[in-house]
Amino acid sequence: MNKIAICGKGGSGKSVVVRLLAGGLRERGQRVLVVDADESNTGLHRMLGFKRPPEPLIGLLGGKQKLEEQLEAAVRAGTPEMSVELIHQEMQLSDIPPEYMFETNNGIRLINIGKILMALEGCACPMGIVSRSFLKKLRLEPDEVAVVDLEAGVEHFGRGVETSIDCVLVVVEPSIDSLEVAEKINELSAQISIADVWAVLNKITSDDIAERLRDYLDKRDMTVIGVIHQNQEIFESCLEGRPIQGSAATEDIDKILDFLFP
Ligand SMILES: Nc1ncnc2c1ncn2[C@@H]1O[C@H](COP(=O)(O)OP(=O)(O)O)[C@@H](O)[C@H]1O
Ligand SMILES: [Mg+2]
Repeated sequence: MNKIAICGKGGSGKSVVVRLLAGGLRERGQRVLVVDADESNTGLHRMLGFKRPPEPLIGLLGGKQKLEEQLEAAVRAGTPEMSVELIHQEMQLSDIPPEYMFETNNGIRLINIGKILMALEGCACPMGIVSRSFLKKLRLEPDEVAVVDLEAGVEHFGRGVETSIDCVLVVVEPSIDSLEVAEKINELSAQISIADVWAVLNKITSDDIAERLRDYLDKRDMTVIGVIHQNQEIFESCLEGRPIQGSAATEDIDKILDFLFP
């Protein structure tokens, strides 16, 4: 298990969960890479204590324009969008220069995939294709774990997903919208045969709320592997744009990591 994708409804707490998991994994002695693959939100670097995000990785891969042209050419030539490969050689973390990969004092590394515009009308999200290609070509050492902050959908992981990610954690906050997005992600994942899709409940204020969410998800064959409680320290850090302390919600995160890394 070394590539974990985090998805869920916007605002459900994906970036917070990524940050907390990264901290917890680091505590356990794992080497951790955080991949910011959410093109539209930019707060993750701040949660980790950086003033700015690293240079976008797409710069290292030849630049936005080149990638867009490659994608466009491949799609014109008849390759389905989901099958286009934008990165051809394998990559290791040691191949990535420091301006593209920041490191916190305690050794959590951060990569920012970057933004890429639509190359063709009808292309759902070229950025998703860059993320998928990168994760597929990224070779991690056995003690390295990548935690990927994704946008809501998983459909872009379509082809080759088994080599791109090992599991999907869907963050669910107490709202019907969030539950519906989770259900959708679960269906999409099944269609493209991602085996391990689990739910993590976030912003939980009582056992009763957790039970109600669990009920909904149980009925849809989704397993809840953990609960993260509403946490004032996290809330205020997000409000002020301060880093989230790795020690926030330790007990909740420990249970999730015990499940993922028994
Ligand atoms: N466990 C938590 N406790 C308190 N507030 C939380 C928690 N998780 C998330 N939040 C709140 O939810 C907001 C959105 O979280 P964020 O991780 O940015 O969502 P996403 O990445 O899914 O869009 C945060 O700004 C914060 O106010
Ligand atoms: Mg986010």
